[in-house]
Formats: sequence, C-alpha cells, structure tokens
Amino acid sequence: ARGVARIPVVVHVVAHTPEQNISDAQIASQIEVLNQDFRAANTDVSTVPAAFEELVGDARLEFFLATADPLGRPSNGVTRTSTNVVAFDQDDGVKFVESGGATAWPAERYLNIWVCQLAGGLLGYAQFPGGPLATDGVVVTHTGFGTVGTAAAPFNLGRTTTHEIGHYLNLFHIWGDDGTGCRGSDEVDDTPNQAGPNGGVPTFPTVTCNNGPDGDLFMDYMDYTNDAGMVMFTKGQVARMTACLDGARRQLWT
Ligand code: ARG
Ligand code: ZN
Ligand code: CA
Repeated sequence: ARGVARIPVVVHVVAHTPEQNISDAQIASQIEVLNQDFRAANTDVSTVPAAFEELVGDARLEFFLATADPLGRPSNGVTRTSTNVVAFDQDDGVKFVESGGATAWPAERYLNIWVCQLAGGLLGYAQFPGGPLATDGVVVTHTGFGTVGTAAAPFNLGRTTTHEIGHYLNLFHIWGDDGTGCRGSDEVDDTPNQAGPNGGVPTFPTVTCNNGPDGDLFMDYMDYTNDAGMVMFTKGQVARMTACLDGARRQLWT
C-alpha cells in the first residue's frame, strides 16, 4: 500500500448573495472534515456497531487547498465569483462562465469543488472518473458545506462533500442504485447487499434483502442518512478508490 496521497483542491465559490459567499473559515472546516473522514480519523467512527468495526477502511488521502493556480502563481486555492443565477441545477451550469459559473482548473491536476446555491434541496452531485475535464469534480450546496457559517443541520458535518468525493473516486451508492430492489450492486464485496437508501439516523440493525443479523451498513458515507449518521468507508470501498487513484486519477497526486 502506498503512503498518504496528497490531493490539491480548488474551491470555486459562486455566490448570488453575500451569505452564499462563504468564508475561508467555512472552507477550512470542510477540508478538516475530509482529512478526518478519508483517514478513518473522525471521532464518530466510534459509533460503528461492533459487528461492522473490522470493515472500517482508511483511504490514506489528505486534501489541501492548492497553493498555486494553473499558471503557477501563488494562490489560496479559492476562487470567488458573483453570479446572477439564483440557484443552480444539476446541469453543470455552475462550471461555465457563460452560464453564470466558474471555469474548472485543469482537472487532471486539481480536485475542483464548486460551492453555490443548488436548487430544489439538492445537496450535491459529482462526476465519476472518465468524464470530460471541463466538468470534472464535485458540486456542493453552501448550506451542506463545512461545519460553520451557512452550514445547516442535519447536513452541517461536511459529509455531503465526503460522499460526493466518494463518487468522484468511483464509488456507487451502497444500495446499488436499483431503487429498493435487492439486485443492484455497488460492486464492492464487503458492503452488505441492501435494498434502498436509508435516511435520517437509522437504528442498528436495519435488515433488508436477507442481510441479517447485522443488516444494512447504513453508517457508510455512500448511504443517504443525515450527516451525523454517516461515519465510515469500508476496506472494499477504499480498494476501489485506490484503484481509481492509481489509474484514471493518478496525475492528481503523483
Ligand atoms: N444527494 C446527494 C448525492 O446523491 C448527496 C447526499 C449526501 N447526504 C448527506 N447526508 N450529506 O450525491
Ligand atoms: Zn450520491
Ligand atoms: Ca438495492
């Protein structure tokens, strides 16, 4: 296994109102969450039921705000854009100047994170590896970003960004994206087969698809619970993310 891979991040803040122009402190709070969650160093990993403890995986990733822009000039890793767009949809509008957004930095070298007001209660969305560079990265609504400032309960522990970066590193939803059936798979061996998404904060065990006695791994980052309920990736998920980082996303950290 490699050591800890360090990933440069650029945060594009795209704001229609002063409050959407989130503070550097709110951005820093999100980076801090990522650096706990992707090292299995988050304190709430202690809430994982004993039955699942051995599944917990350390992704060995460290995220840092870029210290140079694409031309090599010193940067704090944050861009700020004011927009006329009241709320963005999941159509990548936030990623292009023509549609009121901000241009990606070269996505083979930076993890692009756009923070804006998303429409219709959408918390975030991500692009899987292998897509166009101009739209590569993750988008998170400002009220679901970081732990301070405009971050609002129950999505104020930074887990939307953790979840979206999971997708960005090739993880599927833990229930296999087949609605509530038992046939869909997340293509990970150590996650129990699970019917559909869990919301809120479920209680252990939550049994579906004959996955008893321990049931769904609803405390996984790739489920849909409240931020307070999602606290781990599995070793199998880490292997999938590592394969992505050793393959399609290698230039990001080497
Ligand atoms: N709906 C989003 C997605 O499927 C994010 C869900 C994040 N959940 C959370 N508790 N923060 O990508
Ligand atoms: Zn998702
Ligand atoms: Ca399923």
